[in-house]
Amino acid sequence: MRSQDKKKLFDDAVAFLRSTLGGRRRDEPFDWMSDVAAPFALHLSASLLGVPEPDASDYAEISHGIALRMDSGLAPENIPEGDAARKRLNDLGESWFPRPEGDDGLVAQLVRRADDEFLGGHYMRNSAAMMFNASYGTIFAMVGNAALLLAMMPELLPQLSRPGIQPTGVDELVRYDGPAQGTSRVAVTETTIQGTRIAAGDSVVTLLAAANRDPRVFDDPHDIKLDRRPNPHLGFGSGPHACFGSEFGKLSISAMINALSDDGVRLRLAAEPTRRTTATVRSLDVLPVCLER
Ligand code: HEM
Repeated sequence: MRSQDKKKLFDDAVAFLRSTLGGRRRDEPFDWMSDVAAPFALHLSASLLGVPEPDASDYAEISHGIALRMDSGLAPENIPEGDAARKRLNDLGESWFPRPEGDDGLVAQLVRRADDEFLGGHYMRNSAAMMFNASYGTIFAMVGNAALLLAMMPELLPQLSRPGIQPTGVDELVRYDGPAQGTSRVAVTETTIQGTRIAAGDSVVTLLAAANRDPRVFDDPHDIKLDRRPNPHLGFGSGPHACFGSEFGKLSISAMINALSDDGVRLRLAAEPTRRTTATVRSLDVLPVCLER
């Protein structure tokens, strides 16, 4: 992404959050997840991809259904709801074509690539819809997880607002409480890892969040160290299929920190938060907070 595009997206993200939070009165409780995380994730994902913003409550259902589908190995009863959500996502993706409005979003670039390289239309539509959900689902969850940390540890926001700390600080938040708990791979050749034989064709579940707290890799893994360096965390995966949107994911967290600190706002927990029961995606369901100015 060009640096001027990144700056434009960042400024827009900060402005969006400031206006979302701006009208709220001090000490008035609200649900951060539905009132802030969801519209923020929707707005940013639509801006990045250059597609119209879908209806918020429709999209929240689609995204949750897809998160349930990711757990189908553990909970096969989720499959019908997950498949219905995938179908709705595909239909949404189809509605963006033959070409979305504007010319500078990721989807328009995909269309041009497809024209240049004769990629199949189906491949392109699928990638666009999948990318939208990869963006929305993780930003929604991460902005919630980060907000809870800020509310529970009031010293964090002033520390994250210090010049130069965000590049390492944001990565540390993703390591400490990122949304992607695990992923899976299929072994293409036989191998042995620490005495366990894995045959070609076996599925392997890799627990990214556990790796992110591995004491052999991270000093004091259960502490947040905003200047942790190096920080080889797996919150964005690793290898050829590592996160395509990691820069943008980090931009969204920085935007949230800046929007709160620019306005001198702190988050205070107003009641006990509740978590979603999904295992692959770690996300809050309801996060009741108040603003303190
Ligand atoms: C804080 C935010 C984010 C986190 C924590 C995150 C995390 C991850 C992780 C762990 C993977 C690897 C999955 C695997 O190996 O199976 C991944 C893949 C991916 N992410 Fe993200 N992500 C974030 C934001 C985004 C955004 C904003 C986009 C938007 C474009 C995005 C698009 C993708 C795509 C397309 C893949 C699949 C890459 C591939 O298979 O080659 N992600 N993400």
